[in-house]
Amino acid sequence: MPIHDLPGRTRPALLAATLAATTLLGVGIGISRPDAADAATSLKTLAAAKGRDVGFALAVDRITEPAYPAVADNEFNLVVAENAMKWDSVEPVQGQFRWTGSDVVADYATATGKKLYGHTLLWHQALPGWVAALPADQLRAAMRHHITTVVDKYEGRVAAWDVVNEAFSDNGDGSRRGDSVFQQKLGDGYIAEALTTARAADPDVDLCLNDYSVEWVGAKSDALYNLVKSFKATGVPIDCVGLQGHFVLGQVPGDLQANLQRFADLGVDVRITELDVRVPVPADATKLAQQASDYRRVWQACLAVTRCRGVTTWGLTDRYSWIPEFFAGQGAALMFDENYAPKPAYQAVAEALGGAPTPSPTTPTPSPTTPAPGVGCTVTYVPNSWNTGFTAEVRIRNDGPTAITGWSVGFAFSTGQAVTNGWNATVSQAGAQVTARNAAWNATVPAGGTVSFGFQGTHGGVNPSPAAFTLNGSACRAG
Ligand code: XIL
Repeated sequence: MPIHDLPGRTRPALLAATLAATTLLGVGIGISRPDAADAATSLKTLAAAKGRDVGFALAVDRITEPAYPAVADNEFNLVVAENAMKWDSVEPVQGQFRWTGSDVVADYATATGKKLYGHTLLWHQALPGWVAALPADQLRAAMRHHITTVVDKYEGRVAAWDVVNEAFSDNGDGSRRGDSVFQQKLGDGYIAEALTTARAADPDVDLCLNDYSVEWVGAKSDALYNLVKSFKATGVPIDCVGLQGHFVLGQVPGDLQANLQRFADLGVDVRITELDVRVPVPADATKLAQQASDYRRVWQACLAVTRCRGVTTWGLTDRYSWIPEFFAGQGAALMFDENYAPKPAYQAVAEALGGAPTPSPTTPTPSPTTPAPGVGCTVTYVPNSWNTGFTAEVRIRNDGPTAITGWSVGFAFSTGQAVTNGWNATVSQAGAQVTARNAAWNATVPAGGTVSFGFQGTHGGVNPSPAAFTLNGSACRAG
């Protein structure tokens, strides 16, 4: 199922830089955002100090959106391909390997100094039709060839592979998955064979089994536990277990830590590999506070288990998450909202990791929450400049007592500065004067609410920020 073309998500990117330093949530969610005024660091800095990985699943077709790497680069020290290393992506036709997407992820990991996690060599989904059509002996050969080729390709780069994903039945009773072609045609032994094949291809990479609904102690996790135990006893290579962690709001299992610990006690590393906490939409302050508590608990559980290597979220931003497509009426499952702004869950994770960082990337001093007397708006302007180009993110807060419907923001450029194009607003320039008018969908800014727009521009070598701003003709304070 294509998850990449989500409806209604075509708005241009906002730069995380701007969104980060705010103390209010975006328009429509009138609750307090985590205070970003504390220590300026990032999740990856905090996690690294604790010897842990904080990861995200990368969707390769989103990496060109400026805000996406802007947040990802700074906040995470591990990356996994959301889809690009699955069988149908890398070997869509038998024997013809296509590394386009997987290389994007691997190269991104290299370029940004992140650990690369491999997901996944064998899964009953994301499997091209030709695999299922093979008779058993050819399937075995194809499986071995696929594993060997993919592991060889990324040898020395991938730190750990999910060798088999979701081997156990959806019904949770601990039986093997009946709808896996590998299980059907090769029988129970295919998992050990897959692990042994991967080990032969790369003696150093960690080899993991990954599954869901195994986060608590129960029939399914018992089955996984017993399998790992038997592998350890018989010398089948197994280094790690991944618990996916696709949680329902408020339902992080109370025995998550104990469960992680019992796996770790078998002599394998453990990690939460696909964390999200889905929320019935629309999200509100209460739900996001519960979600923050859920994220905190997951991290606390991991931190309490020495062999828990870290936590990876399944995606980066609520703007692009698999949840709305796969779980009707649910969404808002990640730490960054649809505008890449950090949510209470972000702050909760930062706190669990021992800090209270300014969200990524580092931004100017946040504006005070109390506006100056008589001033009805606050404008925060955050440029991101290079040689003679720049983008700027502009955030407007309505500090007045009533909602604004229809807005126009004005400011003046310095010599040499020019607007090229804007997003989330119509941005025009006449001489030095720049005017940004609302788009149809963001005309209303509630009392206390905020709205953001951005633009790309050019400059002559120096790129000063405008000093004064107006909203509908009245002066705002600069935040
Ligand atoms: C999901 C992706 O997020 C979607 O984009 C794709 O359409 C289907 O797969 N467990 C896993 C992941 O192990 O690979 C799944 O990823 C989510 C559930």
